[in-house]
Amino acid sequence: MFKTLAVRTRIIPHLTSSAKPLLATSKENRGLSTVVDIPDIVKLSFHTENADFQLNAHIGNSLLQEAKRSNVNIAGICEGKKVCNSCHVHLDPRSYSLVGEPSEEEVDIFDLATGISDVYVPGRSRLCCQIKVTDALQGADIFIPHSSQG
Ligand code: FES
Repeated sequence: MFKTLAVRTRIIPHLTSSAKPLLATSKENRGLSTVVDIPDIVKLSFHTENADFQLNAHIGNSLLQEAKRSNVNIAGICEGKKVCNSCHVHLDPRSYSLVGEPSEEEVDIFDLATGISDVYVPGRSRLCCQIKVTDALQGADIFIPHSSQG
């Protein structure tokens, strides 16, 4: 669940006695070693009207890749080529603020999609094929409208 990253650090004394020492990192350093745990999986949830899917999502993959890997009921027909709009989801407000607004190209896809206007929600709607899983998405709630279910 965690990658272990060993970071070598060296304390560099400052010229004045009142200043705090600076830390530096280097492959050649022979100073102190610090172990930092970096999570490579986050827990998040997809929801439909009838089902909830909890999954351990790999950081760096798209939300769509992780949903499909976990057999979540989402269409994602074009598999991330940004032509189908069948991976449209509603993010919880916190997650939406973390991933940000859709690109112009993504907005164009929403505009062109037929039958989507009734489920498009400003400030919540995104194409999940365009969202990378990051550690900040830990605990995200992602709602799949009926039109995007597989
Ligand atoms: S899977 Fe087609 S636009 Fe995202």
